[in-house]
Amino acid sequence: MKKKILDIIKKKNKSKIVSLTAYSKNVASILDNFCDIILVGDSLGSVLYNYKSTREVSLKTMIDHSKSVRMGIKKSLMVVDMPHNTYRNSKEALKNAKKIISNTKCDAVKLEGGKKIYKIVKYLTKNNIAVMGHLGLLPQTDKTFKFKGKKISERNKILKDAELLQSAGAFSIVLECVETSLSKLVTKKINIPTIGIGASNNCDGQILVFDDLIGLNPINVRFVKKYLNIRKEMTKAVANYAKEVRKNKFPLKKHSY
Ligand code: KIV
Repeated sequence: MKKKILDIIKKKNKSKIVSLTAYSKNVASILDNFCDIILVGDSLGSVLYNYKSTREVSLKTMIDHSKSVRMGIKKSLMVVDMPHNTYRNSKEALKNAKKIISNTKCDAVKLEGGKKIYKIVKYLTKNNIAVMGHLGLLPQTDKTFKFKGKKISERNKILKDAELLQSAGAFSIVLECVETSLSKLVTKKINIPTIGIGASNNCDGQILVFDDLIGLNPINVRFVKKYLNIRKEMTKAVANYAKEVRKNKFPLKKHSY
């Protein structure tokens, strides 16, 4: 059965929410059997396009990848990141969220920020757009990428922002690189689920970038557990193919017409 927003909310305090990113149909079709939420993250800017930051990702790129992902999803809730500069005010956000949803048939959009986007999130939810929030490390706007929650002022802000997003009607919040005791506090204080990435097991669910999980994206960061070394397997396969072509061992008769 296709998951709905309410199914995700109901998981709070009952069972953990499993979430991963996907940028294409084939990957999404694998994840769909195991995930509650599949996110088309604007992390694709750095993972696939080698952009210096997610700020360079366009609406068109998000829509194109999301169309592909859509074809691989039957059950999971599909969420699409709204790229930087596509939700600078309420009207712009609604226009672009509608464009994403009508083109990709996704279930919800994700926006980064707290107080700054409170009115925008409220406007979207009032207009029946389901919104996932994103607090902690904010790749679209942060100048340096450090975990959040060391300073008291930072802790108070994240907690307040989470409460604001909830009151604006967000159905869940991603907490990225948030200190363990703070993610615990936020998760306890709000009634909507928190989805952590580098935010400890105190969150109601977890999300990882799929390319990181399988070891395809060659990065080493503390919060990523590599469940596979796919680069090693791919390297072996390609090396074998190259060897066989050079020795005229591929294609054989059975591969030919
Ligand atoms: O862009 C993305 O992939 C994300 C996740 C890391 C949460 O926002």
